[in-house]
Amino acid sequence: MTRSWAEPWKIKMVEPLTMTTREHRESEIGEAGYNTFLLRSDDVYIDLLTDSGTTAMSDRQWSAMMLGDESYAGANSFYKLVDAVRDVYGYDELIPTHQGRGAEHLLSQILISPGDVVPGNMYFTTTRFHQEYAGGRFVDVIIDEAHDPRSMHPFKGNIDLAKLASIVHEVGADRIAYVSFETNVNLAGGQPASMENIKAVYAFCRTLDILVMLDATRALENAYFIQQREGGYADRSIASILREIANNSDGATVSSKKDNLVNIGGFLALRDPDLARKARALLVAFEGLHTYGGMSGRDMEALAEGIREMVHTDDHVRSRVGQVEYLGNTLLKYGVPVVTPIGGHGVFLDAAAMLPHLTQDELPAQALAAAIYVDSGVRGMERGIVSAGRDPETGDNRHPNLELVRLTIPRRVYTQSHMDVVAESVIEVCEHRETIRGLQFVYEPDSLRFFQARFEQIPV
Ligand code: F0G
Repeated sequence: MTRSWAEPWKIKMVEPLTMTTREHRESEIGEAGYNTFLLRSDDVYIDLLTDSGTTAMSDRQWSAMMLGDESYAGANSFYKLVDAVRDVYGYDELIPTHQGRGAEHLLSQILISPGDVVPGNMYFTTTRFHQEYAGGRFVDVIIDEAHDPRSMHPFKGNIDLAKLASIVHEVGADRIAYVSFETNVNLAGGQPASMENIKAVYAFCRTLDILVMLDATRALENAYFIQQREGGYADRSIASILREIANNSDGATVSSKKDNLVNIGGFLALRDPDLARKARALLVAFEGLHTYGGMSGRDMEALAEGIREMVHTDDHVRSRVGQVEYLGNTLLKYGVPVVTPIGGHGVFLDAAAMLPHLTQDELPAQALAAAIYVDSGVRGMERGIVSAGRDPETGDNRHPNLELVRLTIPRRVYTQSHMDVVAESVIEVCEHRETIRGLQFVYEPDSLRFFQARFEQIPV
């Protein structure tokens, strides 16, 4: 008999959910311009919009908040955060920010000169925005398998060393601002890089004096996949694998709203004190004084505790990814096209495969996310042509290979029964897929358009 695993926690406080009627949801999605970002959370039943800031904190984190030192300068809570980041990730220089994009902003401003190239393993929306905003040009150097939703490559987050070498050769090492290496690549479907690849990229860059900056937002989940899939790591603790990932980099930006188990916060971590000085000079202008940056003392307390808690035992990440895999495998069993292997933070529905009657310009993933919401009140997010935005040089829509709806699982929030309800809704929508109509823009913001764009159904 196979034995079940269960969450390594029990529930101490609950937040009631309400179910709405289909009629109500039809009216709300129209009001929201078919954009799930514009729905009110009261109208949502199970919220899988994002795993960002949606974590349930532990009793220890809530009690740590009472210890928050709100001193403007030199707060004790800051030094606890410095210690936690040094102990768990091994970086000495800590620059606290209000969330991940605050750290990306500072990093981009200190390292990118106009015309520089930033190679990276697929883009993330805010990361690329800040790289371009600083005058850089992002070049995707992820392996080809990452763009194929059906490839079963175990490390679809890997950087293709030949692509990296080729862009370095083309522009010269001195025009490479840094290599932007995302762990557990979000837009590829929560897909990890192997330790072998992380080490090889760092070794290659060191020979050319190119910095490697991790986006370590989901490095914990990446460490879990290394433990499960890479030879020689099965008996290693998650804590030691995470540390080894960080050891192969010159610094990292982290959105602490994910792995780190808090609702707000982030940081830039560096090894080089001179670079850290430059970042702190900007920090005081854009975020706050260097010992709180963008966070209150209580937020830094909760974050320091969250960073230690996430690696305290391996059980946390095993059950976190296990829940995502449970949902993904249920959908696969019923023939729903999803990105494989199932990722670390969510299940990514392949909208292009599911809605072959729509062209990519008819925004299939946006339409599918809206249809799932109408069916059950489950809220997911478009990750396709709308999220990819326009090419800043030509102004044309980018056409990414992946046209996905992301069902992102918050940490420690929902139970297996919630996952069953989600799966049943997606399966049902999939059975009536041909009734889903395409969408067109009625309002398109200039940058990061997916957050606030509005759409209407294309007239028949
Ligand atoms: N990097 C990655 C890989 C992310 O997934 C995010 C945020 C950020 C950076 C930016 O961090 O939101 O704290 O400013 N991802 C959220 C998501 C928004 O839903 O995937 P932030």
